[in-house]
Amino acid sequence: MKAIIMYWSATGNTEKVVNTIQRSLAEEKVTSRVIKILEAGDVDLYEYDLVLLGSPSYQFLPPEPVLNFIKKQMKRHNERGDIKPCAPKLPGKWAVVFCTYSGPHTGINEAIPVGKYLGQFCEHLGFEIRGEWYIVGEFHGRSDLSTTGRLGNIIGRPNESDLAQVETNIHELIKSIRSIEQI
Ligand SMILES: Cc1cc2nc3c(=O)[nH]c(=O)nc-3n(C[C@H](O)[C@H](O)[C@H](O)COP(=O)(O)O)c2cc1C
Repeated sequence: MKAIIMYWSATGNTEKVVNTIQRSLAEEKVTSRVIKILEAGDVDLYEYDLVLLGSPSYQFLPPEPVLNFIKKQMKRHNERGDIKPCAPKLPGKWAVVFCTYSGPHTGINEAIPVGKYLGQFCEHLGFEIRGEWYIVGEFHGRSDLSTTGRLGNIIGRPNESDLAQVETNIHELIKSIRSIEQI
């Protein structure tokens, strides 16, 4: 299985999740390529069987560089005729999207649009979404929003327990893909 992890991270929370994903995939004997979205250039996601795409939430959407990347990719895949009516699922093409967020005002509702947006991109390409993960992350530089927001004290997150959950998710993901592919 060829896997790629693509992400954007300004203050390191999403990157922490990426490192855990990469390590957990390696434990499953899945080698992954890790690319920052700003360095992704014209990466062709169809070269991979498993795409993991991650971003923080900025004003309840992906940040501008992530949006620009997706727009550029959509344009290219549209021009190539890859995006078809009904978005048929391509066999053996899987995706996971993940979002780190601080949820200071309305909690996870600030992250869900990000997960849905990233997921729509993958689904339009024909990848089947096998996971939509939301991970709490400290709002670096805003101690008020990291202590008095809807999620309470989130300093130091994602913490060990958040990352342990990501690790479990990866093991379950790989197990489920392998069991489908053996059918
Ligand atoms: C400019 C800016 C806007 C943000 N907007 C939101 C938001 O609307 N909702 C939210 O839950 N978190 C918001 N956050 C917090 C980040 O999503 C969160 O801390 C995330 O984990 C940061 O990821 P990173 O460390 O990988 O950059 C914002 C952070 C910044 C810097």
